[in-house]
Amino acid sequence: MSVKQLFAPIAADMQAVDAVIRDRLHSDVVLIRQVAEYIIHSGGKRLRPALVLFAAGATGYHGTQHHELAAVVEFIHTATLLHDDVVDESELRRGRETANALFGNAASVLVGDFLYSRTFQMMVETGNMRVMEVLSEATNVIAEGEVLQLLNCHDADVDVEDYLRVIRYKTAKLFEAAARVGGIVAGVDRDVEDRLGAFGTHLGTAFQLVDDVLDYSADEAETGKHLGDDLAEGKPTLPLIHVMKHGTAEQAALVRRAIEEGGRDDFAAVLGAIRATGALEVTRTHARAEADKAIEAISSLPASIFKNALLQLSDFAVERNH
Ligand code: IPE
Ligand code: IPE
Ligand code: MG
Ligand code: MG
Repeated sequence: MSVKQLFAPIAADMQAVDAVIRDRLHSDVVLIRQVAEYIIHSGGKRLRPALVLFAAGATGYHGTQHHELAAVVEFIHTATLLHDDVVDESELRRGRETANALFGNAASVLVGDFLYSRTFQMMVETGNMRVMEVLSEATNVIAEGEVLQLLNCHDADVDVEDYLRVIRYKTAKLFEAAARVGGIVAGVDRDVEDRLGAFGTHLGTAFQLVDDVLDYSADEAETGKHLGDDLAEGKPTLPLIHVMKHGTAEQAALVRRAIEEGGRDDFAAVLGAIRATGALEVTRTHARAEADKAIEAISSLPASIFKNALLQLSDFAVERNH
C-alpha cells in the first residue's frame, strides 16, 4: 500500500497541517524563509505528523489542536534533518540537493535552530504541560542520539545494543512522542498514552532499521538520498555489525577497515559481504519483529479506521523501499 492510500482517512487533516506549516514558517529574515521553505516544500513522506493524527483519531479526538501538534513534530523532524545532513555531509535529500550543499553548513545549522525554537513557541501555545514535557524530552533525547552516533562513528566495536540505543534515541523517540501527543490531545489516561508511546518506539525502531537497509540497497530515485552515506561516515549500522559477527574472517576484516576509514572506496566490496551473509534480510527481519511489537502494543485500542491505519503504517515501515 502506498503512503497516499494509507493517508486517505486523514487527507483533509493533512491539508490543514500543511497550512499550519506554511503559516508558521514565516520569518522576516529572508534566508530563513528560503532555507526552511526549500526543505519543507521538497516533500518528504510526512509520516510523523500522520502518526499524530492517526493516534488522535484512534483515541477518539474530534478537535483541531492536533493539526498544530502534527506541524510541531514535522518541524522537529525537519530541524534534525537540516542538522543531520551537515553532520553526515550528505548531498542529496528528498531528491534534491541538501540545504547544506545549496546554502552552506552555517545556514543549515542556524535555520535548524530557528525551526527548533519555533516549535518551543508552538508547544507553549498549546498550554498543555504534558505535551510540552513529551516534546521537550524528545528533542533532548534526539540530540543525545545524534551525539552518541557521532561517538560511535569509525568504531568497529560498537555492538547491537549500542546501535539499538542510538536508533531508539535519534529516530524512535520522535515517533514515540508523535504517538503520545496524539493521545494526549484526545485526553487519554497515562496507560493508553504509554501504549501509544510503545507503539511509536517500536515503529520508529523498525523504520530506522529499514533506513539502514536502504542505505545499502535502495533505488536512489525512490529514496531521494544517496546510497552509501552510512559507510562513507563510518557508521556501524546493523548490516555491518552482522557481517563482522557472522561473516568469514576476511569479510569481517574488510568491514572493520571500512568502518574505521570511512569513505566510499570499499562500497562494492562491503556490499558483496553484506549480500553474501544475508545481512540485509537479517536487518529487515529484526524490523519485522519490532513492527510486530508495535502492533501488539495497541491491540487493546478499539477498532477504527485510524487504528487500522496505524497497523498498516507498521507494515509499511518494514516493507518500504523509500
Ligand atoms: C529520514 O526520515 C530520517 C530517518 C529517521 C531515517 P524520513 O524517511 O521520514 O524522511 P522524509 O521526511 O520522508 O524525507
Ligand atoms: C536519521 O539518521 C537522522 C535523524 C533522525 C536525526 P540517518 O542519518 O540514517 O538519516 P538519513 O539516512 O540521513 O535520512
Ligand atoms: Mg543522515
Ligand atoms: Mg540513513
